[in-house]
Amino acid sequence: MPRINRSLTSHLRQKHKLLPLLYRDTRIPELAEFDLRTLTSHILTHHKSLPPIQQSTLLKSLCRRRARAEPLEHIIGTAQFYDVEILSGRGALIPRTETEAMVMRLCDDLKNYHFINDKRRRNPARNFRVLDICTGSGPIALLIAKQLYDLNLPYGFRVLGVDISNPALKLARGSLEYNIKKGILPKRARQDVNFLQGDVLNPRPSIYGDGKAQGFNSLGKSEVHDDIKSFFMNEDQVDSGPMVDIVIANPPYVSASGYWEDTGRSVRLYEPEIALVPPEKRPDNVADDVLREDIFYPAIEEYAAYFKSKAIIFETGGDKQSSRVKAMLESRGWETGTWKDFRGIHRNVVGWRKDTGWNWLLLPSKDGMSYD
Ligand SMILES: C[S@@+](CC[C@H](N)C(=O)[O-])C[C@H]1O[C@@H](n2cnc3c(N)ncnc32)[C@H](O)[C@@H]1O
Repeated sequence: MPRINRSLTSHLRQKHKLLPLLYRDTRIPELAEFDLRTLTSHILTHHKSLPPIQQSTLLKSLCRRRARAEPLEHIIGTAQFYDVEILSGRGALIPRTETEAMVMRLCDDLKNYHFINDKRRRNPARNFRVLDICTGSGPIALLIAKQLYDLNLPYGFRVLGVDISNPALKLARGSLEYNIKKGILPKRARQDVNFLQGDVLNPRPSIYGDGKAQGFNSLGKSEVHDDIKSFFMNEDQVDSGPMVDIVIANPPYVSASGYWEDTGRSVRLYEPEIALVPPEKRPDNVADDVLREDIFYPAIEEYAAYFKSKAIIFETGGDKQSSRVKAMLESRGWETGTWKDFRGIHRNVVGWRKDTGWNWLLLPSKDGMSYD
């Protein structure tokens, strides 16, 4: 972190008396100014009936919280995630811009490549189905839903988010309601989108059998399978084909050492460790040679395989993890590719089943959200 620059501090004080307080934590003047603008506008929007003197006392107390490294999103209560708003609090990770870029690339490409050719235009009875594993406060699920509504598809869709954490799920369900109340999502989102509690690492006998696939020793289905099935099967009772179209996941993927070395104070103080670092005790069905930071990927792939998903999209921590995850998917029969983020880092691994028509996942994005 850069040192506090005394002359800069006095320059900031001349601009606004609260800027030095914010600068103490950010150490970046532009960020301190951004925080001040955001907090001021929050007060002017949500506390506009307060007398000016009370508004200024409130502003001071919010700046103090920010100076103690509390995330801006926690203070104002929401995080903007492209065109949806996500409730923010200690129970869940604050959604990141890398995740937003992954979802928008997927949605843009679904629009430009997939739905244009989708054979189900001739079979409007079948819903489009998305399973978001490790959903947290639901940003991926809710943004996908918003984008799919905007496409006005000739058939319906269903999006299901699964997470182990009840505090995170409370934020996800609250975010769904919040977006409906604000008119960002339609009321029917209450039927089309759902969130479910479940532990995706809960070991069960594997669908691959002993030692057949990289990453697993033995295998099967976890407790949440039936709940997932009943959510997707509600409307189309009989379905012999793939149960879901796509599985998407941003799981915990930070190593224990990376947690201490690479994350900031604000993250460690205010965001749940369970959202970032996979548990030390690996499930019985994850092979010993899989790195601790990678253990969610083979477990989630099992869900994609069980539900015969046509495609799978993962967020990873970067180039090395992406190449390990890509190899794991290939060993399990997926066609694969990677997407780079806006810094040129391979942050997403995509996989699709041969002959499903989903090889467009590797075409260059048309709407400028990707940089590879
Ligand atoms: C990196 S966060 C992602 C949250 C959200 N999808 C996002 O992109 O902002 C990972 C999530 O995985 C959840 N999680 C951790 N262990 C889990 C488990 N065993 N089963 C299901 N979810 C788990 C955490 O609660 C957390 O919400």
